[in-house]
Amino acid sequence: TTPEREQWTGQYGFILAAIGSAVGLGNIWRFPGVAYENGGGAFLVPYLVALLTAGIPILLLDYSLGHRFRGSAPAVFRRLGKGFEPLGWFQVGISFVIATYYTVIVVWAIRYIGFSVDLAWGEDPAAFFTGDFLQYSGAGLSTDFVGGIFWPMLVLWLVVLAVLALGVQRGLERANKIFMPLLVVLFTIMVVRALFLEGASDGLTAFFTPNWEALLDANVWIAAYSQIFFSLSIAFGIMITYSSYLKRRSNVAPTGYVVAFANSSFELLAGIGVFATLGFMAAQQGIAIGDMRLTGPMLSFATFPQIVSMMPGGPIFGILFFTSLTLAGFTSLISILQVVSAAFQEKFGLSRVQVSLLIGGVAAVISLALYSSTSGLAVLDVVDKYTNEVGVVVSAIATCVIVTLGARKLPELRAHLNAVSTGHVGRWWSVLVGAIVPIALTIMLLSSLRALFSEPYEDYPLAFLTIAGWGTLGLLVVAALVYTLIPWRRPVDDFTPEPL
Ligand code: PHE
Ligand code: NA
Repeated sequence: TTPEREQWTGQYGFILAAIGSAVGLGNIWRFPGVAYENGGGAFLVPYLVALLTAGIPILLLDYSLGHRFRGSAPAVFRRLGKGFEPLGWFQVGISFVIATYYTVIVVWAIRYIGFSVDLAWGEDPAAFFTGDFLQYSGAGLSTDFVGGIFWPMLVLWLVVLAVLALGVQRGLERANKIFMPLLVVLFTIMVVRALFLEGASDGLTAFFTPNWEALLDANVWIAAYSQIFFSLSIAFGIMITYSSYLKRRSNVAPTGYVVAFANSSFELLAGIGVFATLGFMAAQQGIAIGDMRLTGPMLSFATFPQIVSMMPGGPIFGILFFTSLTLAGFTSLISILQVVSAAFQEKFGLSRVQVSLLIGGVAAVISLALYSSTSGLAVLDVVDKYTNEVGVVVSAIATCVIVTLGARKLPELRAHLNAVSTGHVGRWWSVLVGAIVPIALTIMLLSSLRALFSEPYEDYPLAFLTIAGWGTLGLLVVAALVYTLIPWRRPVDDFTPEPL
């Protein structure tokens, strides 16, 4: 027998969880650097365009798919047509891969809460991060494990899997109800404090000063679209899964607008906080902000600690910052693992607890093996790059094409949104999802592919890029096909969506 489908307690629980998923590491450590490097204030233009033309439309597409077809990603795509199930598994695979490395970043953040107390990173935080802390040994697959990462990571996995085992209401919803308000409070205190630092206004000037020429650069637009995709957690199953737990009578479309607005607001807030802080460092040390390390992990784990060390009351500031990072990361992590959990529960007829023990156990082992070793940083960098720039984009294009041309369900999905929501989702939505988004994304994908083939990313050895990058993507495709062939243990096909 099929257990009854889990549900959020209500709209509020869902909104909080959806915001919890969206607001993550991407807002705090990715957005400020990306915005600054791609035109500063002028970046807000492509960013808003990307939000309105692709972010919100795909968010609504994910919601409508999950809410109408009420299942995990593979179940939803199968219900669109038997041949489409592999796309669902491909999304599950992407989620699985991202979850394995997302955990290690959360572990770094947790460790840095502790390091903030006594400024344990010393005089040279950049050297401390890659040296003492990560014991980074370069590209490769090392089997030397770093105890200071391994053990906390093991504990984090146990906690995360326990939350999943507790289920949608008692696990996911409750975690978000505790952590999200806490995150908002702590992060706001941090940003307000940053605004009172000496030099803060110079930092903000650097951040918001527009470089309009950037708008002529195609890469800036690509950066904007990929930031929006990552940041809203769209197109890899998360929002499909989350909205499948909404009650049938739920006001779906406006929820999407609220989530998108909250996510972008948080992003902007983070940009302001981070650049006010960088302005302080510029004032103290006379270094131009443009010369600081602002991208990737370095912004959070090298530049920020350096500033914390200089600041009066630095330890408190550091604790606020890294706790915020931890909370934001944790609530995103559980959302991404729920994609995997839901799919395995439905396909194999397993309970939540069984999935946490079995699949969660496998994920934890892979995650520990790849990312708690001395080569973890390089593997993370490459896997992250390839899954996001290729995997997620392919998944988004495929979703649009399958919905529009393959299953021809676009009108039905729009009618569904309009039947359950206040407000009206107009024709514009179909035009965007059915044509403009897939075309824009295809152009973007081709350009990323050209870049990946023309020069090795970050000068990593070719063999390493082939295995960690292309190998991961190839494995996802194979796994998607294999899982599709396995028969369903729970009924999936005798499903009729509600009459409109
Ligand atoms: N939206 C998240 C963020 O901005 C990204 C994310 C969420 C990535 C969930 C993976 C899983 O950080
Ligand atoms: Na985000």
